[in-house]
Amino acid sequence: MVDLVDMTSARRNRSSRAESSPVRSATGESALGETVRADFPILARRFGGQPLVYLDNAATAQKPQRVLDAIVDHYAAANSNVGRGYYRLSHLATDVYEQARETVRRAIGAEHPDEVVFVPGTTAAVNLLADTLGRDLVGGGDQVAVTGMEHNSNLLPWRRLCESVGAELVVVPADERGRVSAEDFAAALGPRVKLAAITHVSNVLGTVNPVRDMIAHAHRHDVPVVVDGAQAVPHRPVDVRDLDADFYVFSGHKVYGPMGIGVLYGRRDLLHRLEPYQVGGGTVKGVSTTEPVRYVPAPARLEAGTPHIAGAVGLAAAFDYLDELGWDTIREHDETLVLAAVDAVGAVPGVRVVGDPAADPNGIVSIVVDGIHPYDVGGHLDAHGIAVRSGVHCANTFVDTFGVVGTVRLSFGIYNTLAEVELVRDALRTVTPGTWTTEHPTERFL
Ligand code: ALA
Repeated sequence: MVDLVDMTSARRNRSSRAESSPVRSATGESALGETVRADFPILARRFGGQPLVYLDNAATAQKPQRVLDAIVDHYAAANSNVGRGYYRLSHLATDVYEQARETVRRAIGAEHPDEVVFVPGTTAAVNLLADTLGRDLVGGGDQVAVTGMEHNSNLLPWRRLCESVGAELVVVPADERGRVSAEDFAAALGPRVKLAAITHVSNVLGTVNPVRDMIAHAHRHDVPVVVDGAQAVPHRPVDVRDLDADFYVFSGHKVYGPMGIGVLYGRRDLLHRLEPYQVGGGTVKGVSTTEPVRYVPAPARLEAGTPHIAGAVGLAAAFDYLDELGWDTIREHDETLVLAAVDAVGAVPGVRVVGDPAADPNGIVSIVVDGIHPYDVGGHLDAHGIAVRSGVHCANTFVDTFGVVGTVRLSFGIYNTLAEVELVRDALRTVTPGTWTTEHPTERFL
């Protein structure tokens, strides 16, 4: 790992102030940020008199008024439990919930609404799959394949599964640019591999895995694939059938929807094989003291207890909103901001861009600042009203491959602007080592 304190001399060589010039992008302007900002009430907040520059969208995105209204309206006009009451309000809530499922089905290109299971989020979805599909398919001496760029949420459930059944976790490493090739993945698919779990887009670098090719390789070996789409769904239209994904999971809160709601897509034939993960209300057809319990089919069999109905409604509103903005516009906007940030921020003396975000513009640009701990950089940016995530981003082993204590991650959303990239660039020109750099240079926990 790079010694941060020894590198402070490198920092002294860079200019602390430079003329501020407007940030430009190779792709020109993007009007999207300015157009939609007013839809997001939280963006009017100020911290210490400074406007909030929110660049932690990969951790969670802010919510448009449309989503907030959908949640409030649901509680105000349709709240009751679903599938459990023979009265009109309950029928209404059930309809609204199932309409939300249909909206999600359409958004991700699934064939049937019953392939969409509402879960609390990506982490819950992967844990569900590890404890059901994983225990069904993986036994002693088998292998589970993952990539070297997994978030802990798509790594630790599989690792724990392997440890508990005596299987082996095979990690297909990323190269120095943070990429995993489909060929390397294919080479890892030996006869012992029974399941693969791969991220679609890296939460640290925005790198896109060639998931379509990887899935095709896995299917040649009859290996089902779980795709972690948490960072893909907010930035690109996803079509689970085009990918031929067996399972595809993501969180609602990163796609401008509410917290506490997420999606587990499963191909119908595979989903219906899963045993209930949790049992209880809503999962059964019949219970008696003498007969075996009869469970209902998916998705209800996997949604034990009262679901997050308002969350599903809010998530559907978020997808409708994004659909209206248009995915081409969102993709162009991402590219504009990422290219601008790579050029402008990357040109600040002492700043290094990690990986190659310009090749995969998914709203993420991770940087390191020579000789300064990422938490000190995060604190400095916060003092300028700029919110970023710094550290290992719950992807400890991936970040370690770059030989750094952590990175500072700028992650853009639809409401960010080139003017905000400019503010980041200007703030980075004045960052200096703080207590993390001088007292805890190798510590990190986030
Ligand atoms: N998974 C989220 C992130 O990358 C929390 O920040």
